Amino acid sequence: MVSQGTAMRVEIDPERCTGHGRCYMVAPEVFEADDRGLALLLVDGDLPPDLLAAARMAVANCPEEAIGLHPRA
Ligand code: F3S
Repeated sequence: MVSQGTAMRVEIDPERCTGHGRCYMVAPEVFEADDRGLALLLVDGDLPPDLLAAARMAVANCPEEAIGLHPRA
C-alpha cells in the first residue's frame, strides 16, 4: 500500500454563513460569492493539496465558523 496523504474536504454550513465574504477574499480559488454574497464552494470533492493553505486561511478568517475542513471519511 502506498500512502498518498489524507485527502481533505471543505464544506460550508449554509445555516451559519451570513456573507462576511472573507473566505472568497482570502481563498478565491476555493470559494466564490453567490448573488447575495454568501459563500459557494468552487471545489467539488477532494481539495487539491495546493489549495489547502488557502482553505485553512478561510477557516481561520470566517467570523461565523461556517467553514469546515475535514479529512475525507
Ligand atoms: Fe460566509 Fe464566513 Fe465566508 S460568513 S461568506 S463563509 S467568511
